[in-house]
Amino acid sequence: MSKDKFTVTAALPYANGPLHLGHVAGVYLPSDIFVRFLRMNDHDVAFICGSDEHGAAITLRAKKEGTTPKEIVDKYNGIIGKAFNDFNISFDIFHRTSAEIHHETAQDFFKVLNDKDHFTKETSEQYYDEEYNQFLADRYISGECPKCQNPSAYGDQCENCGSALSPTELIKPTSTLSGKTPVMKETSHWYLPMERHEEWLKDWIKEGKLDGVQQHDPAKWRNQVVGQCMSWIDGGLRPRAMTRDLDWGVKVPVDGGDGKVLYVWLDAPIGYISATKQWAADKGKDWKDYWTGDRKLVHFIGKDNIVFHAIIFPILLKAHEGLILPDNVPAYEFLNLEGDKFSTSRNWAVWLHEYIEAYPEKIDELKYVLTSIAPETKDSEFTWKEYQTRINSELADNLGNFVNRVTVLTQKYYDGAVPERGELTDLDKSVVTQMAEFSTKISDLVYQYKLRDAQAEAMNLARLGNKYLAETEPWKMIKDPANEKRVRTIMNIAMQITAKLSIVLQPFLPSTAKKISSALNFVSKSWDDASEFELIPAGHSTSKTPILFPKIEDSLVEAEVEKLNASRVVETVFEPQKKDASFDEFTKMDIRLGKILDAEKIKKADKLLKLTVDTGLDKRTIVSGIAKHYSPEEVVGKTVTVLMNLPPRKIRGVESNGMILMAENAEGELSFISPEKDFEAGSGIS
Ligand code: MF3
Ligand code: ZN
Repeated sequence: MSKDKFTVTAALPYANGPLHLGHVAGVYLPSDIFVRFLRMNDHDVAFICGSDEHGAAITLRAKKEGTTPKEIVDKYNGIIGKAFNDFNISFDIFHRTSAEIHHETAQDFFKVLNDKDHFTKETSEQYYDEEYNQFLADRYISGECPKCQNPSAYGDQCENCGSALSPTELIKPTSTLSGKTPVMKETSHWYLPMERHEEWLKDWIKEGKLDGVQQHDPAKWRNQVVGQCMSWIDGGLRPRAMTRDLDWGVKVPVDGGDGKVLYVWLDAPIGYISATKQWAADKGKDWKDYWTGDRKLVHFIGKDNIVFHAIIFPILLKAHEGLILPDNVPAYEFLNLEGDKFSTSRNWAVWLHEYIEAYPEKIDELKYVLTSIAPETKDSEFTWKEYQTRINSELADNLGNFVNRVTVLTQKYYDGAVPERGELTDLDKSVVTQMAEFSTKISDLVYQYKLRDAQAEAMNLARLGNKYLAETEPWKMIKDPANEKRVRTIMNIAMQITAKLSIVLQPFLPSTAKKISSALNFVSKSWDDASEFELIPAGHSTSKTPILFPKIEDSLVEAEVEKLNASRVVETVFEPQKKDASFDEFTKMDIRLGKILDAEKIKKADKLLKLTVDTGLDKRTIVSGIAKHYSPEEVVGKTVTVLMNLPPRKIRGVESNGMILMAENAEGELSFISPEKDFEAGSGIS
């Protein structure tokens, strides 16, 4: 039986910022594991990625950093590409959508669809920013989400509830460029009438069938992918604009396209094709072999990309004709960080390039932890504490400990030469039987995209080895010369387990697998070998492995958590502006400076201070709720702002005559409002 061929893509990251662990756990690491596994199993595979360099994500970032889109994409393409490389992600190519070959490919694609009448051209009124002379689509416009009332939804999507939106649905829209309310202006665009595709999409997504022919196994599609697509389709698909009035992007290549570019979600997925073209050209291959015929296309993505990869891009691929549709779209949920969402704007993130710089020796450790907690079916969370626990108790105590024991004892007893096996006991036989099951169990899980379970299964092989040694205790047996043969048998079996580990760990922990391989002086790049029992023969010489996983100290966890908290940007939320007050109402208030002469706590009222204030007119008592923020000693002598003409009020038995005005920040801290110059008590405020 010939092996399936694969083209595997990982969502093109926007070149508008560095990658954080959320991106890695939910797209790049799982796709890398999957591909490494496929390669070991002799599948013909292309692994494609690149940076997404168009769209408002880029131009708005450039505006924020006060530079050009070109500078932005060059900078972040470099940072992201290097991080992938250092993190040992094995793309066949990491390309970019600003490349010429991409612009040509996307334009050709557009022309093919246009010639086949897959677009409609429509003129309509759209929001326009008169200050910037620009139409406002996607992230250029924000407003209140009509579905969840999130006040900062974008013109294409509400990130709070996930709804797809169009700018005209936003309540109180404002331009993200100028902050002003936009006007309406007429413009024409090419639209993809998605409603024409509802019927075949339903069959294809739910049944895996296209024109009655089975294309994929719907049972392998994740529930949330099918669910999200069906809810979109059931809600009724609508025409979606495929062009934009912008100058940063792929120019619309047909008549009437002046001043317009392709919608970024049209051009970006075509980036998978153009990247394949570039790679094929570099390698002397034909790109078409990777996008046509009998081949499985797999898109690894985050859940916010589902509709684009499971509905819109398939429509485009099918309309283009001759190209394959995805066999699966494994979408990941989101990873959270220490109890909160990853957020670039709040700087709440662990950045991949920073991790690599700090811990260049701990790449596999991070891979292991992220795969263990990968958000495959629901959101999950990264904490430094769990990072420590998993490394110390799983990698170090289980895997590292086993491999180290086996190689060290072999060194000690036999000078590194693998000893001969004698007769097997029942225990040995049961271990050998269990060993035989791992390679199939793991591979079944990988083919079902259950990479988290697959990795856990690989770790169970180390667990089996540890248990075997704990039950047989060769280090005790060796003390009695009568046991010599028995110990040889045990160590031989333990060595076969170690060799098997060096194979099954390769997709997950490539550098660790290499370290084990080189200590054993045994290399296999074929998954089939993992189903063999005897991988290294008696007499084969081996050496000790270094410590594979040094323990993670508490100090690392503390430092990382502290670093996160220190760099967090707090989004300040102040009270909205109050309703209008008349000038008359304002002038009725007598506000002036007062000097605090004396202060004392009020019994059984932990918020209140009783103040004696010199107001210039009199000395009066004012009760003020500031005791949580100021001690009596601190306030004496301060010049503050006093509202004089409030009617007297009894508070906790003390008559208060007026009020000290305070400023309150978003965290609820209070501050006196004191004059910037040294003015005397009684000075009026107006
Ligand atoms: N840049 C997009 C994001 O980060 C993903 C683009 S994937 C592609 O959400 F299909 F468009 F390439
Ligand atoms: Zn919403």
